[in-house]
Amino acid sequence: MNPDHPAQIPIDPVVTGDPLSQAAAQVEYVPADFFKRVPLETLFSKPGPLEVDIGCGEGAFIAAMAERYSDRNFVGIERLLGRVNTVCRIAAHRRLDNIRVLRVESSYVVEHLLPRESVAVAHVLFPDPWPKRYHHPRRLIQPAFMKALHGLLAPGGELRVKTDDQPYFLWMEKVFATAEGFERVDWPEDPDYPVTNFERRFLAQGLPIYRARLRKI
Ligand SMILES: C[S@@+](CC[C@H](N)C(=O)[O-])C[C@H]1O[C@@H](n2cnc3c(N)ncnc32)[C@H](O)[C@@H]1O
Repeated sequence: MNPDHPAQIPIDPVVTGDPLSQAAAQVEYVPADFFKRVPLETLFSKPGPLEVDIGCGEGAFIAAMAERYSDRNFVGIERLLGRVNTVCRIAAHRRLDNIRVLRVESSYVVEHLLPRESVAVAHVLFPDPWPKRYHHPRRLIQPAFMKALHGLLAPGGELRVKTDDQPYFLWMEKVFATAEGFERVDWPEDPDYPVTNFERRFLAQGLPIYRARLRKI
């Protein structure tokens, strides 16, 4: 049980009792009330700028960021249980107490769960491209998402997006062009920006990576 939240349920239905599983169970954050914004002070032991990794997958990126920037706090958002468990175990194994993971639909988190104007950087890395036209409404980057994200970002907060999928990137460019309250910012090659699990595969295949950085104005 998470002492902060008695309603917290274990990430693994069969809690083996081994210390790593128990520590990993503390990394997942299950809100006590899904209709209230999460009080950030219950998430982390230390205050610090908050970054979110939306669709964090198996967590190579968020773990590397949390290790590199121990003065910042990180929330991973991921809907797949197996991936959530993997991230939680990595964070517990490396004793990264500046990571929490939410297994909740990402648009809901952005619009309703995290406090408004609380996020310094939102990372959206290799979101599902949904290539079929009739699936395009499922794409994460949409005008409504940008509006909700604008409310979530702190003043001067940033969105950083990467994808290997050119058609989706062209779609994003159109959404970004009409998104109110953002400016495009240069994003020079940055060796300190960790590679994600998916990105590693795409790079190994020699695929180009498209990226965009926007700042809230
Ligand atoms: C293509 S993967 C990329 C994962 C990771 N960012 C990386 O680059 O390795 C997209 C991830 O987003 C998650 N995802 C997709 N839609 C989601 C949603 N609506 N809410 C939360 N997670 C979502 C998927 O489960 C998947 O793990």
